[in-house]
Formats: sequence, C-alpha cells, structure tokens
Amino acid sequence: MTRAENALTHPLELRYGTSAPQTEWVMNPIVAGILAHKSVRKFAPTSLPPNALEQIVAGAQSAATSSNLQTWSVIAIQESSHKDSVATLCGNQEFIRRAPLFLVFCADLARLGAISEREGLAGEGLDYFEMFIMATIDAGLAAQNAALTAESLGLGICYVGAARNNPRELATALQLPQKVFALFGMAIGVPAEGDSSAVKPRLPQAEIVHHETYNTQGQEANIAEYNAIMRKFYASQNMGVEGDWSLHSAKREEHVKALTGREIMREALIERGFGLK
Ligand SMILES: Cc1cc2nc3c(=O)[nH]c(=O)nc-3n(C[C@H](O)[C@H](O)[C@H](O)COP(=O)(O)O)c2cc1C
Repeated sequence: MTRAENALTHPLELRYGTSAPQTEWVMNPIVAGILAHKSVRKFAPTSLPPNALEQIVAGAQSAATSSNLQTWSVIAIQESSHKDSVATLCGNQEFIRRAPLFLVFCADLARLGAISEREGLAGEGLDYFEMFIMATIDAGLAAQNAALTAESLGLGICYVGAARNNPRELATALQLPQKVFALFGMAIGVPAEGDSSAVKPRLPQAEIVHHETYNTQGQEANIAEYNAIMRKFYASQNMGVEGDWSLHSAKREEHVKALTGREIMREALIERGFGLK
C-alpha cells in the first residue's frame, strides 16, 4: 500500500480499500456507476421522480433471461400502510417504511404453468429444482439491473433478504399464487441528506478469480489482507462490528438460529407449489 486509506479516492481504490493497481482502467459512466454502488438505508421523505418505477422495471426487464422464459415477477409496494406491514414481516427494518418504493422480486413459475395449460402441454419441468434455480437467477439478474438503473437516476437502494424471514406470511400479504415465491426485496428512495453510507471494500480479486481451475492457494493471506481493510472500514463507519470480516461472516452461519426463520425455506417452497424434484 502506497498511500493512507483516507487518501483513497479512485473508484477502484474505494472498492478494494487499497491503492489502485497501476494498470490502465477504462472509466466510463457505466463502470463508474457500478463501482460506486453502496447500500443506502437512509431515505429523504421525498417521492420518486415521475416514471422512476417504469424506468427501473424496464431496466430490470432488459437483463438477460434464461431461454427468454422471464420466470420472475416483481411486486411494487408504495402504499404506506401496506409497506408498513410488509416491513414488519421483512425483519421489521425501518428503512423499508421510509423508502417510497419497496420492490419484492419473486421467482415466478405460475405464468409458465398457465401457458402450459393453455397450450395443452404437461409442464412437467416446472416441478424440478432446475426451474426454481432458473427463476432465482432470472430474478437476481433483473434485480441487479433494477438497482443499477435506480442508482443511475440518483436514487439509493438496499436489497432485503429478510423478505424470506416469514415466507408464509409474506406470501399471504402479497396474495402470491402457488408457484410464485418472494425471494428478496429492494428498498428504493432518494438518499437522505447527510447519508453517511460508503463504498464497502470487497475481497481482493486474487481471492475471487481462479485462473483455469479452482484453487485455494493464497487464501489465508488474501483473507488476512481483507480482514485488516474491513476492520478499518467498520471503525470508520462506526458499524459496531465485533472482530473482523472472517468472524462476522462465520457468525452469520454459526447456528441455525442465525438463519432468522429462513431454515424452513425448503418446506415453504414446497408448500407454495414448487416441486424441487
Ligand atoms: C440478496 C441480498 C439481501 C440483503 N438483505 C439485506 C437486509 O435484509 N437488510 C440490510 O440492511 N441489508 C441487506 N443487504 C445489503 C447487504 O448487507 C450489502 O449489500 C452488503 O453488506 C455489501 O454492502 P454494499 O451493498 O453497501 O456494498 C442485502 C444484500 C443482498 C444482495
């Protein structure tokens, strides 16, 4: 490292929490926007610009989708009492209530089921785990495009995995039919003035990229380097995280209790009409 952390300014330096590699990087508005992502959990009491929802959804629908099957749907929640009860089910996270828009991304095999029926075809594949994986990938890609679109409009976003904390109750609240499952949410709004969220450093590329074949060489050193970066980040953001990234991450799956209700996922999916064969 050649400079102090507080001198890091280049988007790549902020992304990795260390001084930028000495290579030529192409920086254009899309790359800059992607690198600048940070979750926002403080929203101004302001509504979204006109047509923001439509633009965000068009961005989401522009993502690639397996065989063009488009096995996802999104529920847009804007009405405040509905948002309030949904927020309660999603880990009771206050920022969801404050956000003018809460999107719930769903794996949706119901549409294909209906089409198969109308076409007089069996739809056997819908009962297989593969189709659930396909739908979750489609929804994830769509959501990330939605996030980038929203961020490009100057909005802030935060994903909400806690949408899986109470899958049965959320399905009821959203009136989801069989074969539609709420995977995760996304709170979207105008970042509050003085919002102090910051770009959170990621693991060094050496830990993530495996050339030609998978190997764990250097893992310990890579993670030690990242732990040191994250300790400083946690302190600078007053995040009150105990220990370093390794400890924080290992605690996240230490006991079933840490799954915060999501341990019933397989059962809940089967109840909701996913065969998972
Ligand atoms: C699928 C998913 C679910 C998430 N769920 C929550 C959540 O329920 N509450 C929350 O505050 N943040 C949630 N996050 C945000 C992550 O904590 C955040 O993305 C991560 O710490 C990295 O920080 P960054 O987004 O600022 O780079 C979620 C992120 C993802 C991708």
